[in-house]
Amino acid sequence: MNSMRVTDHPILGTLENKKQVTITFDDVPYPAFEGDTIASALLASGVRTLRHQEDKGTPRGIYCNIGHCFECRVRVNGKNTVRACLTPVEGDMRIESGGEL
Ligand code: FES
Repeated sequence: MNSMRVTDHPILGTLENKKQVTITFDDVPYPAFEGDTIASALLASGVRTLRHQEDKGTPRGIYCNIGHCFECRVRVNGKNTVRACLTPVEGDMRIESGGEL
């Protein structure tokens, strides 16, 4: 599903020349494009919940989108506390929800 993907942007251009890669989030494969952050790639595929709050279990996702709040933290290739909003995608990236402080 790519329902939220912007394919033709007046400033950024089109996706035609962007390299497509596949990332996995909680073992589900998703398409991503060169220049995406983890957060933008997952949001483009309709994924809004990146983790659950440790105490209450409420869903968390992109909040500030500039690296300040850490609400978007995920685990990438076994490394905790990776901010999805700041981290560019790479092919074969294995992303898991959660990510402890
Ligand atoms: S959304 Fe705030 S640090 Fe990523």
